[in-house]
Amino acid sequence: MSNQAANPALLAAVIFDLDGVLTDTAEFHYLSWKSLADDLGFDWSRPANEALRGLGRMESLRVFLGDRWGLFTDEQRADLAAAKNQRYLDRVEKMTWDDLLPGAPELLMRLRAARVPTAVASSSKNARVVISRLGISNLLDVIVDGLDAPRSKPDPQTFLLAADRLRVAPRDCVVIEDAESGVQAALAAGMRVIGIGPAERVGRAHIVVSDLARLADRCVEQLLSRG
Ligand code: BG6
Ligand code: MG
Repeated sequence: MSNQAANPALLAAVIFDLDGVLTDTAEFHYLSWKSLADDLGFDWSRPANEALRGLGRMESLRVFLGDRWGLFTDEQRADLAAAKNQRYLDRVEKMTWDDLLPGAPELLMRLRAARVPTAVASSSKNARVVISRLGISNLLDVIVDGLDAPRSKPDPQTFLLAADRLRVAPRDCVVIEDAESGVQAALAAGMRVIGIGPAERVGRAHIVVSDLARLADRCVEQLLSRG
């Protein structure tokens, strides 16, 4: 799909990160890691969990285990990642449209009405199930997940693959991201970036807002215009 013939003033595409941007699965990830830490007998806090934002599952396990990484065999690590994932999926199963973050449904529908192509580009291997539970598949043209793009953010692969599938040049894409690693990945892909969250986390983005609901109309229009 291309909107450019219909409206040449519009930017070609908007690429959303999923976890922490469209929905607060960041909390589900935290609770699932926390419960695994409880089983293993160590503490796991929300601030510690911040380091996992945007990282793939095994990269997250590496940070989560820290110095304990060497205590486990590859097989045990795979079992730990699977155990964490099952706890996460138990939470995802209960998700609905109501779990979209404030401002997300409005923005997705507005982009749809303006015929701006949209994608989700996520490091998560569960992105498709989360999108399906949220009921937003029909508002997205392209989904790239952690299975499609094995090189997790901050590598730009996830975003470049989304642009390729959208058939849009990277420089004509705006990415909306909540993770430092995701902002890095989008910049490395040559895209414009809106950071969602505190400046300490997403301050390298071109524009920083606290949440999607605060992405004022004017700001969206500015980003959707070329030049
Ligand atoms: C990212 C999250 O979107 O997906 C990370 O920000 C998470 O916290 C990563 O670790 C991988 O998720 P999953 O669902 O494949 O375990
Ligand atoms: Mg995220």
